[in-house]
Amino acid sequence: MNALKRDGIDAYMVVMSVDNDESVREAARAIAEQFGRLDVLVNNAGVKLETAPSPPSQCALDTVRETFETNVFGPIRVTQALLPLLREAAAPRIVNISSGMGSITLATTDTLYMSKPFAELRRVEGGPQPAHRPVRQRTPTW
Ligand SMILES: NC(=O)c1ccc[n+]([C@@H]2O[C@H](COP(=O)([O-])OP(=O)(O)OC[C@H]3O[C@@H](n4cnc5c(N)ncnc54)[C@H](OP(=O)(O)O)[C@@H]3O)[C@@H](O)[C@H]2O)c1
Repeated sequence: MNALKRDGIDAYMVVMSVDNDESVREAARAIAEQFGRLDVLVNNAGVKLETAPSPPSQCALDTVRETFETNVFGPIRVTQALLPLLREAAAPRIVNISSGMGSITLATTDTLYMSKPFAELRRVEGGPQPAHRPVRQRTPTW
């Protein structure tokens, strides 16, 4: 913040945890009090909590829950809380930071993204499997 201000940028900081209702409500209250409107909301907060690739079959359920709380419910919570302030702006904008893997357009038009699910399938099937009870995985595509 100090560096931004030193550069002449009129910056104002509001701290919020997107996974916490009260924190988001408090941030909305602060913006309402200070500015009365919001021009742009960028839903950028995101986490990747596992340190190694971790399929749902091996990932602790709490980790999955925490990831969804920030990456999925977070942007919904923040958007719902800030929509009234966005509606006060002349040309409001919401920018949701997603991922290439979440883009249906890329997954159906870009060779790299189209190829990735097949690479993943090969990795799972080619990985170590107990000979007596192999677990097969298929990803149907259509
Ligand atoms: N980097 C990539 O290759 C890549 C690729 C595809 C998509 N993305 C997406 O791009 C976005 C930014 O990624 P990045 O690489 O810049 O990640 P990053 O450096 O880890 O930054 C993530 C930011 O989200 C904040 N955050 C995490 N949980 C939060 C919460 N519950 N409440 C409020 N803020 C929270 C973090 O704040 P603190 O530092 O205070 O924890 C941090 O400022 C994410 O949505 C990510 O999924 C990134």
